[in-house]
Amino acid sequence: MQETIERLRSQAEADIQSVQDRTELEEYRVTYLARKGRIAALFDQLKSVAPDQRPAFGKTLNELRSRVQSLLDERAARFAAGPVVRESIDPTLPGRGLFVGSSHPLIQTLEEIKGIFVGMGFSLADGPELEDDYHNFGALNFPPDHPARDMQDTFFVGKDALLRTHTSPVQIRVMENHPPPVRAIMPGKVYRNEAVNARSYCMFHQVEGLCVDRGVTFSDLKGTLISFIKQFYGSSLKYRFRPTFFPFTEPSADIYITCFICGGKGCRLCKQSGWLEILGCGMVHPNVFRSVGYDPERFTGYAFGMGIERIAILRYGIDDIRLFFENDVRFLEQF
Ligand code: PHE
Repeated sequence: MQETIERLRSQAEADIQSVQDRTELEEYRVTYLARKGRIAALFDQLKSVAPDQRPAFGKTLNELRSRVQSLLDERAARFAAGPVVRESIDPTLPGRGLFVGSSHPLIQTLEEIKGIFVGMGFSLADGPELEDDYHNFGALNFPPDHPARDMQDTFFVGKDALLRTHTSPVQIRVMENHPPPVRAIMPGKVYRNEAVNARSYCMFHQVEGLCVDRGVTFSDLKGTLISFIKQFYGSSLKYRFRPTFFPFTEPSADIYITCFICGGKGCRLCKQSGWLEILGCGMVHPNVFRSVGYDPERFTGYAFGMGIERIAILRYGIDDIRLFFENDVRFLEQF
């Protein structure tokens, strides 16, 4: 009998350890303490114990019962205090960093370009991305069926609807709606039907600029754009203007800066030339003025356009244009 009681005690002590919730606690109570439980069963056996030994066994059994009861009470108090907290808080650990967002590298680049031109007195204008042939080409002095149209592979959307291939149609819309003088920059998305790869994408961003007034000359164009280049890239950078062709400007030029990777010696980025092209510009063609009803005998002007991706790629040393549009945080969080 004594041995049975001892065994039950150690089992009860072990079992209470594995009780994890109120349901298991109730099962435990039923097993040991209920009227038909294992302790009650031992009390029943007292009858068969010799009468002179009964008081001693009765005392041990009572002790067992109160021991089990207190194990149960202890466990119950733990559940009453709420769920078992397995994790503890270490207040000496450093806090977890907050994730702070930042603007997209293209927005940062655009904001800086805007800031420089607004500082020189330019205002902002915009226009639709879905254009008609007239605004994207015709009014910009691209004759019908002229090969110059092939310089910009176009997404045609329907009868006389296309995705603008450059921001120059916004020049036309601004001049159609405002008499001269005009001095504005026009940022926005443009689309070209080109194979998508590390160097080109079917959509990108440009900033267009237009200045029209009486007596605007090529010197004004140079002064303004050189000032922009010095503010944006630093005053010690070398630049050059090289003649080129655009239907909507005459004369036209591309502006190049010294390759800042090789310093002009020639490398992969500048295709061994030592120079990087950063924008196109020129004096507004008289035919463009005629198409918006400006008198080319009274007014002259200059225009320019640059690709924002290209400028950001050169500035941050990004080697794949697709990174701008994939929204991979590992890329974005570097800016
Ligand atoms: N629209 C031209 C292009 O996309 C850039 C440009 C704008 C050139 C204005 C001259 C004047 O290539």
